[in-house]
Amino acid sequence: MCGIFGIVKEKEENLGEILISAAERLTYRGYDSVGMATISGDKIDLRKDEGKVDTVAEKYNIAEMSGQRGITQLRWATFGVPSQINAQPHLDSNGLMVGAHNGNVVNNIELREQFIAEGLTVRSENDGESCVHAVERYVKRGYETIDAIRLAYGDLGGDYAFVIGQVNDDKLYAMKKGSGLVIGIGEGFTCLSSDLPSLLPLTRKIIRPQDGEIIILWADRVELRSVTDGKLIEREPETITETMDAVQKGGYPHFMLKEIHEQPQVARELHHLLDDSFELDSIVDKMRNARNLYLIACGTSYHACISGSVALAQIAGRAAIPVLAPQFISQFAPTVNHDDVGIFVSQSGETKDVLNALHAAEEKGITAFGIANVIGSTLTQATESCLPLGCGYEISVPATKTFTNQVYNFLYLAYKMAGRDLTELEQIPALMEKTLEMVAPQVEHLASTLDDVDDLYTLGYGSTFPIALEGALKLKEITYAHCEGMLSTEFKHGPLSAVTENYPIIFTSGKNDIPLIISGINEVTARGARAIVIGPDDKRLHDNSDDLIIIPDAEEQISALLAVLPLQLLSYHMSVARGYDPDFPRNLSKTLTVD
Ligand code: AGP
Repeated sequence: MCGIFGIVKEKEENLGEILISAAERLTYRGYDSVGMATISGDKIDLRKDEGKVDTVAEKYNIAEMSGQRGITQLRWATFGVPSQINAQPHLDSNGLMVGAHNGNVVNNIELREQFIAEGLTVRSENDGESCVHAVERYVKRGYETIDAIRLAYGDLGGDYAFVIGQVNDDKLYAMKKGSGLVIGIGEGFTCLSSDLPSLLPLTRKIIRPQDGEIIILWADRVELRSVTDGKLIEREPETITETMDAVQKGGYPHFMLKEIHEQPQVARELHHLLDDSFELDSIVDKMRNARNLYLIACGTSYHACISGSVALAQIAGRAAIPVLAPQFISQFAPTVNHDDVGIFVSQSGETKDVLNALHAAEEKGITAFGIANVIGSTLTQATESCLPLGCGYEISVPATKTFTNQVYNFLYLAYKMAGRDLTELEQIPALMEKTLEMVAPQVEHLASTLDDVDDLYTLGYGSTFPIALEGALKLKEITYAHCEGMLSTEFKHGPLSAVTENYPIIFTSGKNDIPLIISGINEVTARGARAIVIGPDDKRLHDNSDDLIIIPDAEEQISALLAVLPLQLLSYHMSVARGYDPDFPRNLSKTLTVD
């Protein structure tokens, strides 16, 4: 949710291209508006507007911007509509400081009132501007910049990371409080960013600041100081050895399509990671003995939790309660105690709703485990143990490979708990490859027949119920059609009234549930609906569906996992056919670090 990048060089030089490239790499975090600021001597050059990086860069000739220091920010609007005035970075009252943030300053409205009352010039409604004025107010009272930042930290509520620079100086300052921030050290420059991948093209030597730390960047060195007492904190840089392949499209037109096709490979890698995990046995043991076992997440990760709950029940006979993270706080946290176990699931490991639930649960003494993709993210650090997803970078906003590896993770846990032969799971990657091969041309054609569809349902039952929910989320996320996922048996309890001639309904069927799914199909086709079915090669499904997308024969739970692949591909092709960019759907952000 919003992205920031800053760079400090030894002397003034062209920074425009560096800032544009960094902004492009951070685009997945927000793309409502973008801005760049450069600072040299007593001058600040600030250019910003609503719109995506390429449009704003061209309109304001960002490529020509030069400076000794530079800042860029990508915005996903919370405080204030996307507009030029609300775009970041922001200036202080006299144009002597410029700064930007990612995250959310929750007391923004009252802070703005205070700043106005103190005579500061507040130009926008955006909370990033409050960060700048929060520093400015103390500089005006005579504090050194570093002390002004420390005091500002106390005033700014919420979770955020923030960068600021001032004229007649050679440094950038940053602070971290609950939002991602990584520092890079290069040859003759230092830099910072909201995430690690966006720094890797520039340097592999990095430092990870912690919450409550203030960072000072010169061109040739970095200092970390405690926000509480200003004392120096020693932290050695680490060297990142991962390749950059994952952050390139690798010949695919979009990251989403690349990530869909990476699923077999990352599933293979995850299996090895879990085989080698030292923590797994103890996690399984605690899950088995828990009074209540909760699976907690949001969005796609929540659908993986429902899938996990079905798998744990059907394979290991263990009840687990899947729950959306904010609802966990009101519905379950009051009853939780130290006999309970919570598994918090998140691709990013930074979703605020999930972290809020984690804090509420930990206050009640729950044993908290995580499943996360981003190593080093807040969730990985705040839980007792965190299992990996091993997906590498997932750039596209719609989650694909992280979903299938979350489900894989739960299958692995269920098999382990049941004492079942784990090698059975090793067939999943090859089955995924086969599925993609079998369904790709048919699904692409199917997408072309759904061009004018703006309303549809996806229905599943048992192990395919969460798959239907996930398919619906993918479809609405990137095609902008209204698509509702639900339990197939619920459709007759109301939504059936939506059915008219040729109304499309997608069914996902596991082989054990074919009779029930067929009954659902007949209820809708009898009323004129078009039944598109994803399921095994079964005569009953052939005879009852308008379109049947066949997936390979597999064990019930594995087959359900395979059924999501055609839904991912269908959403992708429908989105592209509509002229949308599936990687960056409107209004969304990959990492939601706000309430
Ligand atoms: C899925 O395509 C979405 N990007 C979204 O629902 C996402 O799964 C949700 O915001 C949770 O994110 P997390 O897994 O990083 O916690």
